[in-house]
Amino acid sequence: LSQTPSEQISTDEFVRTPYLNILTYPSPNLRIAASRLRQLKKIGVERIVFDGRTKVGRLGLLGIGTVGVVVQARIGESIYALKVRRLDANRESMLKEFELTQLANRVGVGPHAYTATKDFMLMQCIKGVELDQYIRALKGRGTRESVRRVVHLLLNQCRKLDLLDLDHGQLSDLRKHVVVQGDFPYIIDFESASRERTPKNVTTAAQHLFIGGRSSSFIRRLVGVSEPDEILERLKAYKRERSDENYVRLLGSVGIVS
Ligand SMILES: Nc1ncnc2c1ncn2[C@@H]1O[C@H](COP(=O)(O)OP(=O)(O)O)[C@@H](O)[C@H]1O
Ligand SMILES: [Mg+2]
Repeated sequence: LSQTPSEQISTDEFVRTPYLNILTYPSPNLRIAASRLRQLKKIGVERIVFDGRTKVGRLGLLGIGTVGVVVQARIGESIYALKVRRLDANRESMLKEFELTQLANRVGVGPHAYTATKDFMLMQCIKGVELDQYIRALKGRGTRESVRRVVHLLLNQCRKLDLLDLDHGQLSDLRKHVVVQGDFPYIIDFESASRERTPKNVTTAAQHLFIGGRSSSFIRRLVGVSEPDEILERLKAYKRERSDENYVRLLGSVGIVS
């Protein structure tokens, strides 16, 4: 397995090939690059670090989505995640995502969002693994408790978003939108979030974890619940009324006593 070493550049070098391919992904554009360089200077980004499992050519990234490509950025010794708006993104600006991420941050959810411009969002860098990977790597004594704990932490964050009337919008794809760093699950990517919809964070995440997701039967077994019937009932009740009581009952049906 060939391991590409990480590469660091000063922000000024971002407009040069091959880095330009990332700055104006998916196609190099010098005019747009110049405007973007100004934005980066304004927010004080000093260096870009290309390191991560996702590759564009030889350059490593934290990830690529449909709206942005995410690289590591440095200001002094601090490392951040920098989301760079794709040229082909279906939105004009990162500012709405920034606002909604900040809103989630108010209740302690999401990577901390520091600042944003039209084409960038600077946020806390989360280095971790997918939830599935985290759960599958657990073994031995304490596995059940660890699974319950991580699921509880995740559902509590979903509950906080529900109470805030902020629907994340993409929790059906937990694989891509939850990163476990250490033992803590972070919900990332608020690009599809909205305050205009009925919040479905708890129900969507729980449905994916325990009923419909790829690992749902495995997870049910790990937390000590064999049949999905009771969970389904509790989900329906919570959907009808998003009360504390219904939330606690839902937790109970997946083996979590709070
Ligand atoms: N704060 C972050 N820290 C570390 N990696 C991140 C962070 N935000 C996003 N990523 C990585 O970048 C990928 C794409 O980011 P995402 O916000 O999902 O973009 P999009 O809105 O285009 O879907 C994610 O799947 C994840 O791997
Ligand atoms: Mg995404």
